[in-house]
Amino acid sequence: MQTITLTRPDDWHLHVRTGAVLKTVLPYTARQFARAIIMPNLKPPVTTVAQACQYREEIRQAVPEGMDFAPLMTLYLTAATTEAELKLAAETDVVHAVKLYPAGATTNSDAGVGNIQQIYPLLAALERHDLPLLIHGEVTDADCDIFDRERVFIDRYLTAIVAEFPALRIVLEHVTTSEAVQFVESASANVAATLTPQHLLFNRNALLAGGIRPHHYCLPILKREQHRAALVAAATSGNPKFFLGTDSAPHLTPLKETACGCAGCFSAPAALELYAEAFARADALDKLEGFASFYGADFYRLPRNTGTVTLAQSPWTVAPVVGEDGVAITPLQAGELLNWKLL
Ligand code: NCD
Ligand code: ZN
Repeated sequence: MQTITLTRPDDWHLHVRTGAVLKTVLPYTARQFARAIIMPNLKPPVTTVAQACQYREEIRQAVPEGMDFAPLMTLYLTAATTEAELKLAAETDVVHAVKLYPAGATTNSDAGVGNIQQIYPLLAALERHDLPLLIHGEVTDADCDIFDRERVFIDRYLTAIVAEFPALRIVLEHVTTSEAVQFVESASANVAATLTPQHLLFNRNALLAGGIRPHHYCLPILKREQHRAALVAAATSGNPKFFLGTDSAPHLTPLKETACGCAGCFSAPAALELYAEAFARADALDKLEGFASFYGADFYRLPRNTGTVTLAQSPWTVAPVVGEDGVAITPLQAGELLNWKLL
């Protein structure tokens, strides 16, 4: 049996929600990843250091006995965020980054930023305090085609932000297009990107051809094959600007399988295995460790992990659904066979 052993990886983009959903989903992440950057898009959003501390405590309580997992918290940037709060965030070791959602871009982003230039003083504060800015890079204009929203965001906003704040560390989250890959590649070392398993494995046919598949619906939306190929090339290139961020985003199954379903793929139950699948198909398993375990930690200026995990080429079937007592959540690739299994 072929196996591959990696330094224990981290997930640099994760949604775990709260309450019963948190308790259901967190063990799947904790068994694979040592740390994760926790997204702040709760209702209401996590906008203060005090809220981040409270949320971190709730997450810690949900880590099963005997597992060791560290949540790395983020703040949700709004027009009402103060420079004093960002200074406080930079001074504590709880908050590791601040997330910018354009208003209305995705799940729970109503509190997001409407006018990006208006928050330039906050971006200047982040640059001064050396706190990374994480960006959901999509415009939200109703008249912009959903397949163009990432590319247009880069042209209209990101290029200007990067030029205006050259020392600001920026992660363009869950990139989905060749344009995003090119932008990140040609920017300075302060600009990096996360890549999800769904965007490495699927193009938009997986969402729309032969029937509509709500569990493949996430934002940014899956793109054409040429874009998927560019993402795989970036992930497997060994370029440290590209690292693992699952964007695992659980929604209750009835809220996905409905006339107007929520955006988000719940990839946590098979996250590392899904990446292994994508890297194996590209004949690049030797590049998985840097992508999954080194480059993100280096970018966030955190120590690399010391333990290891082992994947074996041993086919297994993803659970059709996880959770109990009214908390049913359908994983990405539910009921499908995967070739790599975490031992
Ligand atoms: C995320 C969620 O459900 O919180 N959904 C998604 O499709 N990715 C929000 C996000 O990261 O955009
Ligand atoms: Zn996300």
